[in-house]
Amino acid sequence: MQIHVYDTVEQVGRAAALLFAARVTEKPDSVLGLATGSSPLGCYEQLRAWHREGLLDFSKCVSFNLDEYCGLPEAHPCSYHAFMKEHLFDGVNLKTSYLPDGNAPDMTAECRRYDAAIRAAGGIDLQLLGIGRNGHIGFNEPGDRFVYGTHVVDLTPSTIQANRRFFESEDEVPRRAVSLGIGGIMAAKEIVLIAMGEDKAQAVYDAVHGDVTPRVQASVLRAHPHTVFLLDREAAKKI
Ligand code: GLP
Repeated sequence: MQIHVYDTVEQVGRAAALLFAARVTEKPDSVLGLATGSSPLGCYEQLRAWHREGLLDFSKCVSFNLDEYCGLPEAHPCSYHAFMKEHLFDGVNLKTSYLPDGNAPDMTAECRRYDAAIRAAGGIDLQLLGIGRNGHIGFNEPGDRFVYGTHVVDLTPSTIQANRRFFESEDEVPRRAVSLGIGGIMAAKEIVLIAMGEDKAQAVYDAVHGDVTPRVQASVLRAHPHTVFLLDREAAKKI
């Protein structure tokens, strides 16, 4: 695992964007693994800018997002579909973008379909990750095992609390989500995890120095041959 620490949040985002730009430039038909949350915002802003300036062409790229809430309409402003449209999809020219459908009538079939679509696309070349305060990646919450495939998750109180800031009230935050599993994330050829802010410092420390344990799902990334952590000073302060 490589770890790079930057002075500012802006630098973290731009450093992540550099990795995406390099992949897309050397392999124009890259399969990109995308994430939501506040962490990727700077990266997406930079990718949109480079696309606008004619430096980056995504027209042969396909993307798969990590996760989506269950039971929230796609058009809801807090859905991850809406987030991705606003922060990336409307500003670049990806050939096709996929997110899991959190409203599918048969979620087991939807999970299998999503994993099969990633395999059919050739697997993820570069996966972007944030990290939850409890060490989650995607919506793989702390537990006593790593779940391999895409699956439906009951969100923990800590995650519901953390995501409450996007919604009008805590009651509105969905209690369940659908997420790529740890097997799907670990199958990516390359992984970049971004974390900013002091409230991520313990999760980053546990992921980097603690046991490899499903209690801290991000710790599994230590077993991945091509993972890079991009951190600001605050998120890195315990390591
Ligand atoms: C959410 C997402 C994760 C994300 C995490 C951190 O729960 N499902 O994919 O990494 O929160 O979010 P943020 O970057 O806003 O701190």
